[in-house]
Amino acid sequence: MKSKFILSLLSFFILCDAAYAGGDPVGNGNAIFTAQCSGCHDVKLQVVGPALSGVTQRHDIDWIVKFVKSSQSLVKNNDKDAVELFNKYNHIIMPDHPDMSEADVKNIMAYINIASLDLSKMDQMTLRRPLTESPAYHPLSIKKDYPIFLIYLGLTIIMLFCFLYLINLKEVERDSEKGK
Ligand code: HEC
Repeated sequence: MKSKFILSLLSFFILCDAAYAGGDPVGNGNAIFTAQCSGCHDVKLQVVGPALSGVTQRHDIDWIVKFVKSSQSLVKNNDKDAVELFNKYNHIIMPDHPDMSEADVKNIMAYINIASLDLSKMDQMTLRRPLTESPAYHPLSIKKDYPIFLIYLGLTIIMLFCFLYLINLKEVERDSEKGK
């Protein structure tokens, strides 16, 4: 529950940040990726083409832009990485995207980078620390916090006596009214 909350908060801030920085790269990238790439690619799983998680670490962005626009041009020009990939993926031709702008490809990469974050680890980073550092998160313990329990008990007993006293008072009042 908590992790989901933190997750949505985090994505909210990331999205706000992106929106503030001009446009919404992650949202745009997500839309283009879903429409034009997801048939063959997943962020974390190999489909027809490789999983794209970490692709910006494997290649520089200029290479990726050229590859997405026309991977076969790179293959024909004997680009080492492109040829290697083409061979590894059984000579399946990734279709050209000549109309795709550099900004589009950068947006797709922004989306891929966000989508490939290891959220289970992030969870630990954001959740464990406050639990150990912030006293507000400690549950009460009878051993450590016994003064609080004593005060609580005392107040309850005082309140109980007040009630008993009031009930008695009322009864005395009633009795005296009956006596009249
Ligand atoms: C018809 C299937 C297909 C579609 C659609 C497709 N790809 Fe590919 N992609 C491949 C294949 C197959 C490879 C492996 C290289 C090769 O065979 O040329 C690849 C490789 C890549 C690589 C290199 C990955 C690496 O690990 O180095 C990138 C980056 C890439 N694609 C991005 C995209 C993007 C962005 C889109 C959408 C605009 C897209 N692809 C659409 C099939 C596809």
